[in-house]
Amino acid sequence: MVNQYIKSNQDRFLSELFELLKIPSVSADSKHKPDVRKAAEFVVQKLKDAGADKVELCETKGHPIVFGEKIIDPTKPTVLVYGHYDVQPADPLNLWNSPAFEPIIKDGKIYARGACDDKGQFYMHIKAFEAMVNLQQLSCNIKFMIEGEEEVGSDNLGTFVKENKSKLKADVILISDTSLISLDTPSITVGLRGLSYMEVEVTGPNRDLHSGVYGGAVANPINALSQMIASLHDTNGKVAIPGFYDKVAELTKAERTQLNKAPFDLAGYKSELDIKDIKGEEGYTTLERTGTRPTLDVNGIWGGYTGEGAKTVLPSKASAKISMRLVPNQSSAEITELFTKHFQSIAPSYVKVKVTAHHGGEPAVTPTDSKAFKAAASAFEEVWGKTPIPTRDGGSIPIVSLFKKELGLDTVLMGFGLDSDAIHSPNEHYGIKNFLIGIETIVAFYKHYSK
Ligand code: BES
Ligand code: MN
Ligand code: MN
Repeated sequence: MVNQYIKSNQDRFLSELFELLKIPSVSADSKHKPDVRKAAEFVVQKLKDAGADKVELCETKGHPIVFGEKIIDPTKPTVLVYGHYDVQPADPLNLWNSPAFEPIIKDGKIYARGACDDKGQFYMHIKAFEAMVNLQQLSCNIKFMIEGEEEVGSDNLGTFVKENKSKLKADVILISDTSLISLDTPSITVGLRGLSYMEVEVTGPNRDLHSGVYGGAVANPINALSQMIASLHDTNGKVAIPGFYDKVAELTKAERTQLNKAPFDLAGYKSELDIKDIKGEEGYTTLERTGTRPTLDVNGIWGGYTGEGAKTVLPSKASAKISMRLVPNQSSAEITELFTKHFQSIAPSYVKVKVTAHHGGEPAVTPTDSKAFKAAASAFEEVWGKTPIPTRDGGSIPIVSLFKKELGLDTVLMGFGLDSDAIHSPNEHYGIKNFLIGIETIVAFYKHYSK
């Protein structure tokens, strides 16, 4: 029946999603503030249309949070669906094969910024909800909390959660914002990494200098910064910040064996990325490296002259954005402090170093023995005919640990994206198949969860 409902409404589902994808709700860019609000208003309207009884656009210091609910029976379990309607910036625009905010379908995939992360994924929940309401199959209470600042660190969500504990009262959190192994091998994410995001600035002389007149006698801050950054890893690919690994929970042999049972095609991985070789911390597999090990990466680096042609300059300043992915039981605040102290301590006397912290988030591991996890597994078994494999993803969704801390709630990460969907990259896409089967699997989740 659900299947039939999805089939006969799929064109409308897709055209609604297209409407949402056309709104450039880039949370990082203040120029898009009105668009971010427009996307929030769109979500409000669609939740109302789908049958929510109470829908609110909740103002924050930043972008609004959309809350909606349908309480059918207070004695029944309540599922809180979380998602985000904001998206990453689309640049570099010239690398898109078609404009980022003009969604198109090619080879069964929807191409647009946010198609997978997270508009296409949270919209499945609104359509699953609509289907259950219209088919009179809704068997749980549902709450929706769809935010607009996930891609910029969810700065105001923590306050909202703390101030609205009774409004958000639920039995479990359900999120689709992660990936599957593949359409042939369904999986449920059971771990996410945390994050500490830093910015560093190295200052040499008080102004840009002629690199011939002063070069060789005055320190070049770009050279100094490069050396400092290079020293942050040792030759085994480990992060060389004292204390960085102190709190890292090592997996047991059994856990490692289990994790590495997930299929992983190294040749395909390399060819898809056009790399000759992989590189990471020695002694760990790729799945372990991204799922269970902490890392440090430079996200951006700048300074000096980068314009056309050549300018002989010894610059005054150099900067970099550096992020660290964290795993249990590292703490974002502690790692931020360790980094700051270490980076200051390695500063040569001939430059000044400023370190500032951007947002962070805690790592999360979700239980596999809960009623909700089992319901999700049963949903996959029913719809896909296969038992989903538990996996640990390398990305971060800081709200997961916050939900646990503030509301005492566990999360089920039922994502339907693929690692190859190019989220945060040019030509982001989402399979129509993933979208439709996702809706079906979500409906099945509710059926099993309310049993
Ligand atoms: N949906 C992603 C996180 C993700 C992607 C988890 C794929 C698992 C698999 C989310 O929107 C995201 O991009 N999060 C940011 C963190 C945030 C604090 C900016 C990230 O992981 O960089
Ligand atoms: Mn996301
Ligand atoms: Mn994202």
